[in-house]
Amino acid sequence: MTNTAPKSIVIIFGATGDLANRKLYPSIYNLYTKGKLSEDFAVIGVARRPLKNEEFQENVRNSVAGQFEEQRNDIEKFSKLFYYHPFNVNDTASYRELKVIAEKLDSTYNTGGNRIFYLAMAPEFFGTIAVNLKTEGLTSTEGYTRLVIEKPFGHNLPSAKQLNEQLRHAFSEDEIYRIDHYLGKEMVQNIEVIRFANAIFEPLWNNRYISNIQVTSSEVLGVEDRGGYYEKSGALRDMVQNHMLQMVALLAMEPPIKLNTDEIRSEKIKVLRALRPLEEEDVKKYFVRGQYDAGTINGKNVPGYRQEEKVDPNSNTATFVAGKLIIDNFRWAGVPFYIRTGKRMKEKSTKIVVQFKDIPMDLYYREENDRQNPNLLVINIQPDEGITLYLNAKRPGQNTMTLPVKLDYCNNCIDGINTPEAYEKLIFDCMMGDTTNFAHWDEVALSWRYVDSISKVWENQIATEFPNYPSGSNGPKAADELLAEDGFHWWSVED
Ligand code: BG6
Repeated sequence: MTNTAPKSIVIIFGATGDLANRKLYPSIYNLYTKGKLSEDFAVIGVARRPLKNEEFQENVRNSVAGQFEEQRNDIEKFSKLFYYHPFNVNDTASYRELKVIAEKLDSTYNTGGNRIFYLAMAPEFFGTIAVNLKTEGLTSTEGYTRLVIEKPFGHNLPSAKQLNEQLRHAFSEDEIYRIDHYLGKEMVQNIEVIRFANAIFEPLWNNRYISNIQVTSSEVLGVEDRGGYYEKSGALRDMVQNHMLQMVALLAMEPPIKLNTDEIRSEKIKVLRALRPLEEEDVKKYFVRGQYDAGTINGKNVPGYRQEEKVDPNSNTATFVAGKLIIDNFRWAGVPFYIRTGKRMKEKSTKIVVQFKDIPMDLYYREENDRQNPNLLVINIQPDEGITLYLNAKRPGQNTMTLPVKLDYCNNCIDGINTPEAYEKLIFDCMMGDTTNFAHWDEVALSWRYVDSISKVWENQIATEFPNYPSGSNGPKAADELLAEDGFHWWSVED
């Protein structure tokens, strides 16, 4: 497979926004410096603000330069590939003007009409833009047309369906790239490799040998300036519907018969279909919600969620979710998948812990009367990237005592391995026409169906216990009790 993307024009909607500046321009620049972009390539940025091309290019330069400590000489040349068009999403004339610019650049850069439309803006405009792109002729080109769409993809199943129908007016499923940036993370992509390229794991990867799997994604940051959005989403829609369920699907899927998009997606979809549906009683029993209170993080006092900007002082929104997922299939019957995610927690960390079953007899002890640890496989997604296998070995000088040992592989510690940012990989995949690491509509719909059954219960019941965890902690106690009831506990880094 060639390592250079085919020629194309990328049209970014929301070109002056935070995502474009923080993630998209630096990622496109990295592709540029690695020679992964075609020579025939340009970007049109569109947004409401009336900017001139030169001003926009200046923005792009600043956003890219801000990512590096040292001076980069090629940023100036890179920024010349960027053009700007002030835009009103509701005005069809704007689309017609954009079409003229795109056609002109098609011929200047010889891009054969290949166009990627990247929607990096407020989700309420996604549908309108897609429909207008079609009706105003922007999708009628000789080349390929693709739509990249950021989350949130709706706020529940009915709204996601409606949005999907609008998008499908203009783009086929194959042309829609629904971003879940977790799928671009190096170690999330590594889950499949660890499982399917190692004879020592796959035979054990089932309910005979695994007792439970824990997926944690904790953040130190609060809602920052996104209170308006977060009030309506909460941790359930913001993290569980997409990132957490995607990781569960990758951990639980069957080996695909081929390593291609359709086969991988179809195995993931089967996992989501096998999630045991939740009745109201199950939600109460198996799901825990939390909201952060004021607290101390890294020695600094931080406010509670209800004191954040654009947040209702009596807000019922959860900033933390923990849950026990049950997958009803042959492989996983009886193995709980625990998930946990929250803002303003003790540390920024995403990791997966696979806990193997205890060996049948305690021949050895760790300490007097203290059982040895079970074997654990830890997949560190971020900030550390790597895998750690916890084994038990003989305690030196002792005959019957064991010592826990760690076999560590650290991906981002090896000199010369500079793992690309998720967005860099996803933008490149899209240019290459590879939808594997994007969410298929069926995955989105099934995840919403699952999450909706939880939000329906929570929205109808005021969380009188909120706020129920201090900033800088590991979340509410009930999340620990959830595992304790099954005889487990959350494994933390220090264990
Ligand atoms: C985003 C959420 O999808 O993921 C944010 O909207 C969250 O609220 C972010 O902070 C976490 O991503 P990462 O890559 O920092 O774990």
